[in-house]
Amino acid sequence: MAQPPPDVEEDDCLLEYHHLFCPDLLRDKVAFITGGGSGIGFRIAEVFMRHGCHTVIASRSLPRVSMAARKLASATGQQCLPLSLDVRVPAAITAAVDQALKEFGKIDILVNCAAGNFLCPASVLSFNAFKTVMDIDALGTFNVSRVLYEKFFWDHGGVIVNITATLGTRGQVLQAHAGSAKAAVDAMTRHLAVEWGPQNIRVNSLAPGPISGTEGFRRLGGSQASTSMDVLASPLRRLGNKTEVAHSALYLASPLASYVTGAVLVVDGGAWLTFPNDVKLLEDFASSAKL
Ligand code: HXC
Ligand code: NAP
Repeated sequence: MAQPPPDVEEDDCLLEYHHLFCPDLLRDKVAFITGGGSGIGFRIAEVFMRHGCHTVIASRSLPRVSMAARKLASATGQQCLPLSLDVRVPAAITAAVDQALKEFGKIDILVNCAAGNFLCPASVLSFNAFKTVMDIDALGTFNVSRVLYEKFFWDHGGVIVNITATLGTRGQVLQAHAGSAKAAVDAMTRHLAVEWGPQNIRVNSLAPGPISGTEGFRRLGGSQASTSMDVLASPLRRLGNKTEVAHSALYLASPLASYVTGAVLVVDGGAWLTFPNDVKLLEDFASSAKL
């Protein structure tokens, strides 16, 4: 069985990197990565850049993406343009895509990685809390995809990788908002793959499992959820790391996946098959949060 590739916990570049795929796999491509300033999105940017790609990393916090861009460019020697946008605001996306096209002249790959999440029972989730996660994850993915389509992909082709999750597959407790949003994105992946395939645009989802060194895992891996024990009982008996997710994103974005579209690639060590979905967690969560 393959050992996991090295990773580092923080939003820093890898201390060492050994290519498994050809180092020129994405040579001179340009990738637009939302949420690229942290966590999984940061590592996707790094691994793409280590394969010859230039990147645009975009999220709400300009200081965050600016610092990330400096680290990424210095570690890889490729260009990285940091931009501020909120995926809920189409005008801001349009301005950012215009700026990216002005800088690079093209965009080949879009990775929709921006998302928001927290643990909360549906019974006490506010209307605005549910809407907020739907807005960022589902509408945000549509907004950015739609702008990229109109601005460049419709007549040049392109690749879209949507970062989702398996939360909705079995209805994970405390995750009605994120599970619903990510399920909507997986459906969107299939719709857009069908509608935009004739324009030579491939659209796929990548659904990570529990990934170490990420805000997503920190938010869901609280002591009440006993996530570490659950992870040890999963088929590969460990957490995934960000480099493993990035390698799968690299595959989907690259010509290696030239005939793959409308698919959901689950990258979770088999965790969704065995992960507990214990409704008792609702009681534990409610009592500890004094709901
Ligand atoms: C209940 C909450 C809440 C919480 C916020 N809200 N946090 N409700 N429990 N912990 C409610 C607020 O009260 C408010 O509702 C509404 O949500 C919007 O909150 P805002 O703070 O105004 O929203 P905003 O500033 O837009 O921030 C969005 C956010 C925030 C999602 C709430 O946490 C964020 O910016 N997250 C980005 C980083 C992140 O979440 N990373 C993890 C991604 S992991 P009211 O009714 O009071 O107005 C992931 C999936 C992982 O996506 C899957 C793992 C298997
Ligand atoms: P993360 O570091 O918090 O990444 C989320 C990113 O989205 C941040 O960079 C954030 O930057 C950006 N973002 C949030 N709201 C935004 C908005 N409205 N507009 C633009 N950007 C926004 O968390 P992560 O754990 O690495 O998660 C990355 C992706 O993997 C997400 O899609 C998540 O759902 C998915 N995922 C993660 C796990 C896991 O175990 N971590 C498992 C399954 C799926 P700003 O705050 O600067 O905006």
